Amino acid sequence: MIDYSNSKLLVESDKLRSGTVTWKSPSNLAIVKYWGKHGIQLPRNPSISMTLNNAFTQTKVSYEARENHDELFDITFRFHGESQPAFAKKISSYFEKLLPVYPFLKQLKWDIESENSFPHSAGIASSASSMSALALCLCTIEDELFGSLSDDLLFDRKASYLSRLGSGSAARSVFPHWSVWGKADFVNGSDDEFAIPYGLEVHDDFKSFHDDILIVSKDEKSVSSTAGHQLMENNAFASPRYDQANRRLQDLLVAMRKGDIECFGKIAEDEALTLHALMMASNPSYLLMHPNSLEIINRVRAYRKETNNPVYFSLDAGPNIHLLYPENIVHDIRPFIEEQLVDLCVDGFWIKDWCGEGPEQL
Ligand code: PMV
Repeated sequence: MIDYSNSKLLVESDKLRSGTVTWKSPSNLAIVKYWGKHGIQLPRNPSISMTLNNAFTQTKVSYEARENHDELFDITFRFHGESQPAFAKKISSYFEKLLPVYPFLKQLKWDIESENSFPHSAGIASSASSMSALALCLCTIEDELFGSLSDDLLFDRKASYLSRLGSGSAARSVFPHWSVWGKADFVNGSDDEFAIPYGLEVHDDFKSFHDDILIVSKDEKSVSSTAGHQLMENNAFASPRYDQANRRLQDLLVAMRKGDIECFGKIAEDEALTLHALMMASNPSYLLMHPNSLEIINRVRAYRKETNNPVYFSLDAGPNIHLLYPENIVHDIRPFIEEQLVDLCVDGFWIKDWCGEGPEQL
């Protein structure tokens, strides 16, 4: 167990100062999914994700000394320039969780500005990018105030840990290319409390992999991820599912090291459909796929059969389809999307994305 509680991270009142920190942090797409959690945001099974390049959140955190330290947190929050008191409240609960780690959170006044690279209502979950961007800012502020995080490895680990407390999947956004989160006996250094980088281990083909996101619906999800994780607790398939996720991750990592795209694609599709099957088998049951999600899946499978091009689909906890394929067929796949899939996207909207280099301090 890692214990980051540290009552010493308090600033002497005459040394309190102001500053501004900005980080840009990407979203990620899990291939083996995290679905089901326990304790304080700990995963029921290990997962692996690709760090994206174009879907990101940019967050600027300004802090300054504050007079009254006993009160609740002093936070203002703007999203794309507009004040968002509801989000400020969410950040307040997050800060409450972090207080044993960062007692200085109450000593300062916080002004946070955030924006996403993708449209707000695109139905793309932004918790991974937004929570990791905020956690990265806090780690940089810790280092500015106390000089205690100059080691890059320690910095990344703590940023991943703090991201996880905001949103489980955010733990994986801290690293370039690929990241594993959750203890797996067959992955050295893997841990339930923070994610680890996995980009160096995989075949080069996977470092330039594409993930185009086809926006099927922009509506808010009828069941949130938080509620979805919760429903796994009484899901009849929960226990075999967690074993299956372990086995699939083990097989996937072998395939990714070898560069076996077909095996990778089969596991990616099986995982996406399993995630949605678990939702359908929850009590109460629910569906997040739309008719157009199914139509796209059928067209992708038909196109693959016809052309032998290795293009596969994945889904997050929502109706949008992620198209996964290697760089060398990009000039076939983009026309395929334009000619055969775009009519199934809401307002013809889709996002070109690919495996990215991870967060960046601006
Ligand atoms: O991080 P959360 O609590 O939003 O859960 C995300 C779960 C999935 O996106 C469906 C899968 C995953 O591993 O990212």
